[in-house]
Amino acid sequence: MCGIVGCIAREASRRSEEVVMAGLARLEYRGYDSAGIATVSNAGLDYRKKAGKLANLQEKLEGEPLADATAAIGHTRWATHGSPSDTNSHPHVVDGGALALIHNGIIENASLLMRRIQKDHDIDPVSETDTEVVAHLLALTYHDVCDSGVTPGVDALAEAMRRVMPELQGTFTLLAIHRDCPDAIVAARRSSPLVIGLGDGQNYLGSDALAFSEWTDQCLEIGQDQMVVVTSDSVRVYDTHGNRQTPHEFTVDFSHERTSKGGWATYMEKEIHEQPRAVAETLENRTDEQGYLTLDELRISADVLRQLDKVIIIACGTAAYAGQVARYAIEHWCRIPCEVELAHEFRYRDPVLDQQTLVVAVSQSGETMDTIMAVRHAREQGARVLAIVNTPGSTISRESDAVLLTHAGPEIAVASTKAFTAQVTACYLLGLYLAQVRGNKYIDEIQDYLEKLSQIPDKMQTVLNTSSLVNEVARELGPKTESVIFLGRHVGYPIALEGALKLKEIAYIHAEGFAAGELKHGPIALVDEGQVVVTIVPTPRRPELHRKVISNIQEVRARGAYTIVVAEEGDDAVNEFAEVVFRVPQTPTLYMPLLSAIPLQIFACEVATARGCDVDQPRNLAKSVTVE
Ligand code: AGP
Repeated sequence: MCGIVGCIAREASRRSEEVVMAGLARLEYRGYDSAGIATVSNAGLDYRKKAGKLANLQEKLEGEPLADATAAIGHTRWATHGSPSDTNSHPHVVDGGALALIHNGIIENASLLMRRIQKDHDIDPVSETDTEVVAHLLALTYHDVCDSGVTPGVDALAEAMRRVMPELQGTFTLLAIHRDCPDAIVAARRSSPLVIGLGDGQNYLGSDALAFSEWTDQCLEIGQDQMVVVTSDSVRVYDTHGNRQTPHEFTVDFSHERTSKGGWATYMEKEIHEQPRAVAETLENRTDEQGYLTLDELRISADVLRQLDKVIIIACGTAAYAGQVARYAIEHWCRIPCEVELAHEFRYRDPVLDQQTLVVAVSQSGETMDTIMAVRHAREQGARVLAIVNTPGSTISRESDAVLLTHAGPEIAVASTKAFTAQVTACYLLGLYLAQVRGNKYIDEIQDYLEKLSQIPDKMQTVLNTSSLVNEVARELGPKTESVIFLGRHVGYPIALEGALKLKEIAYIHAEGFAAGELKHGPIALVDEGQVVVTIVPTPRRPELHRKVISNIQEVRARGAYTIVVAEEGDDAVNEFAEVVFRVPQTPTLYMPLLSAIPLQIFACEVATARGCDVDQPRNLAKSVTVE
């Protein structure tokens, strides 16, 4: 889960370096253990790299500026092999400074390859990384190609890359520059993201289009095991046999205002407040003139959907909790079994899958390796795969049978917020579409559900406008709280899990979500005087749920808990058992997660801020986990 950026221009100038550094800043959320940049021009190849955040590299460049360059490649790292250090950071420059390489992914046979290189060429590694091994291998192969009669330069570098790819086991996005060919960047990918941006007199490469979205929205997809030669005026794509390929071109919408903080202190705060728009835009243009749901991009026929006998949602982290919320709706509306499985557990469980199974892969980035591998397993077993992703052109969307896009806009903060509520919304659209196609619900019922769903953005705005109490309580509790329990029942249970994850990942507080009914089966032993317990209370209009959760609050309160409750406007039954009540507008039970998630997001954000944590780039994490 590293950030990779490249830029190649016609003339040597500061431009390529500036584009790469700006792109790295946009991708820093993908990994921020260390950063580096390499440049090349007719005057030669040079590089700078530094452990720590991108600011450390920027400071180094101010002190030791690079020369004007035609090509530049840059990298922000989330360490997999080797600790975060100057030496282990990318680019890796080898062969006497002739070649520079950056890499995202994991080379699983790196040790074997390094032993071979050490033995055959008496070359010893200077770093602990798998990437350096590839750099040496590429440089040695480049010399072999030149020795075979190919003129040193871009064609030799491309042929060297083509020969190296099959020798690598594992995943990679590779970008290489060489001092013999300052007019080109050679890249390759397998199971790790790479997008090409098409400019005017210069071209771009990135882990995702966000890296260069300020300069172009015209992109090319690079397929699995493809190699690409990028110059300022051309992009040539090849397969590993050297056959030219025609890449798919697409346009991204990363309007700049959607990728800056827009006056908010953190991206997370901004994205929490963008949720009404994210849900509204995910709901937009989903019905035809007669009011029937039409999910155009679904590309799975109604007949196939009618024959389904099971739905399995696969995802990780917050996306998995979105799936857990959706499961209640899909089973209730469609009367079809719906499982939710953590993607990294899915294929090892040896799940029962066939043509009648719809596997739904939920992912904001569309690049989560655990989910990619689960998608591949599902397709190998013959299941149909639908991707619900927020990133057009991402690997998961490309490798699925069909795609349902969320329209949350770019989510920069590592902690997912607007993507979560957009994912839940998209899952609801899928559930209602299945119910419509399979005849479980009449069109007037579907329209009624859609009408109530269309009211959610305004209700979300109400929650956001009345969140001052949440901020106040979080500021007060933040510095002195070391443990929080979250409780929920029915659709509130996944929200309890999500609320706990938010607090863990940005405030570094031990927090745990439980099904409220599970507490008495053990976890209640955790409750002591002053233990903070946050409970999501169902609407009183579901008395069989409401009554039980009130009892659960009484159980913890009787043991000294500090009880924070998320409850509907008008639900006064909670007042006597709650120290604090965060109110949300009345809404149908199945839609309440779209509202109750918001106070918990704000709570986590404010607690993290009160504790001096880096809200947008929490320690040890990255936005897109592109390694298994
Ligand atoms: C959520 O706050 C986390 N950053 C993490 O759990 C994330 O949801 C998970 O890694 C899945 O990412 P994806 O949606 O991009 O696949």
